[in-house]
Amino acid sequence: MEEGIAIRAENICKSFGEGDSYIEVIKNASFTIHKGELIALIAPSGGGKTTLLMMIGCVEEPSSGKIWLGDKQVFADKWLTRETRKIRREKIGFIFQAHYLIPFLNIIDNLTLLPQANKTDDKTARAKARELLKYFDIAEKEKAMPSQLSGGQNQRVAIARALVNEPQIILADEPTAALDMQRSVDVVKMLKQIALEQKVAIIMVTHDERMLPYCDRIMKIEDKTTIFEEQQLQKNSTHSD
Ligand SMILES: Nc1ncnc2c1ncn2[C@@H]1O[C@H](COP(=O)(O)OP(=O)(O)OP(=O)(O)O)[C@@H](O)[C@H]1O
Ligand SMILES: [Mg+2]
Repeated sequence: MEEGIAIRAENICKSFGEGDSYIEVIKNASFTIHKGELIALIAPSGGGKTTLLMMIGCVEEPSSGKIWLGDKQVFADKWLTRETRKIRREKIGFIFQAHYLIPFLNIIDNLTLLPQANKTDDKTARAKARELLKYFDIAEKEKAMPSQLSGGQNQRVAIARALVNEPQIILADEPTAALDMQRSVDVVKMLKQIALEQKVAIIMVTHDERMLPYCDRIMKIEDKTTIFEEQQLQKNSTHSD
């Protein structure tokens, strides 16, 4: 497989239920996403965005198809490993619409919880967490509780948390939905910078068209399958920031 590829999907299908409750959500989606790319994922509500992210993130099992993460094939009509949790922890960072910080842990403990679960030693995990807090300009909040931070600050912590494990892929489900325009642009620019600097592939679900010019490509779910919007490529060339 080509070296710069972060995610490859081939003919992924996903349906839920049986009989009267049967619903086909994704049909034959095939795409390739490269390291360093920030992809916007758009579709109407109920269009399958979260379902698609969760399949790439090894959370939701596709009905059929093939998935590679980096050079490792993880799915071929079934999971190829029993350790999907391990893959998820090692390779993938998740960011959600609400920040989902743990309310009774302070900021630094929220950041180091996952690395501890991954058996990184505490000192290394804390050093990495502090470095990220500094990068996101919230170093002085390390001992604060999530309730003492603003929405934008909490979302930056949530992004920092997704990065603590140095994932190869970040899956962000409407990370800016709770933020105002300026904060949203800040977050999206930050994601682009992370993608570039750390060679991470990022898929970001968004409903906000104003965020699209900051993304490298737009992936749409249309007629249950994924297509890339060409127009954005031209539009994007005028927005290199
Ligand atoms: N576990 C499930 N069981 C049955 N149906 C499901 C399940 N999860 C999702 N669906 C259905 O799959 C379709 C796609 O849902 P999904 O959450 O992926 O949409 P979405 O594009 O993320 O929507 P939104 O923009 O509202 O978040 C919907 O019709 C939903 O009802
Ligand atoms: Mg969704």
